[in-house]
Amino acid sequence: MGQSFSDYRLFLREFRRNYHTTGAILPSGRRLSTALARYVGGDPRGQRVLEVGPGTGAVTRHIAPKLGPNDRLDLVELNPSFAESLRVALANDPVLRTVADRTRVLEMAVEQLPDDTRYDVIVSGLPLNNFSVDAVGSILDTFRVLLAPNGTLSFFGYIAIRRVKALVSGRDQRERLRGIGRTLGDFLDGNEIRRDWIWLNVPPAWVHHVRLS
Ligand SMILES: C[S@@+](CC[C@H](N)C(=O)[O-])C[C@H]1O[C@@H](n2cnc3c(N)ncnc32)[C@H](O)[C@@H]1O
Repeated sequence: MGQSFSDYRLFLREFRRNYHTTGAILPSGRRLSTALARYVGGDPRGQRVLEVGPGTGAVTRHIAPKLGPNDRLDLVELNPSFAESLRVALANDPVLRTVADRTRVLEMAVEQLPDDTRYDVIVSGLPLNNFSVDAVGSILDTFRVLLAPNGTLSFFGYIAIRRVKALVSGRDQRERLRGIGRTLGDFLDGNEIRRDWIWLNVPPAWVHHVRLS
């Protein structure tokens, strides 16, 4: 289920070219990917699953084996190079090929997705700490619209990274990071059903699982 050498190379290139939206130097590791995919599958009626920011498909490769025959997967990816690499992987990768007939690559920002589909599971790999407070607010609003009643949203954050970054940042950045912390805190309050702690990730991360009330 691993990433190929060319996936790592592409990720690193996009990190350099598009640091703001790529947000990480490496694709997510196995433990983080497994935690993000926790609520995928297991419903015989079929789930509509949305992965936001799949990049080179590190998490997608953990989502795919959990999909049943009635499940559907949408991958929404802003970066055209990643979207193209996902299309190639869906045609050729032994894990992703098995779900290619139930999977769509939607090359756009998640905020631009039409709101005519409600998803039972949303898995987000977005680097929220890189965005403005307004952008984070607008992404969370998008998740609210797209999530079906009783649906589950899973997304990650690096443990204590906002505090560490705030220590070495100027005033504007500190304000931005605090604003993101408040926005996420309000969103999670009363809605977080579980949190997974991934200490062996680099850097250590947690995965928030949310059901909106
Ligand atoms: C931290 S990377 C995660 C990649 C992958 N999920 C993983 O875990 O290795 C963030 C991904 O989100 C994508 N992205 C950033 N902003 C986005 C947006 N507004 N809508 C959709 N994708 C976005 C980036 O292009 C990148 O692929």
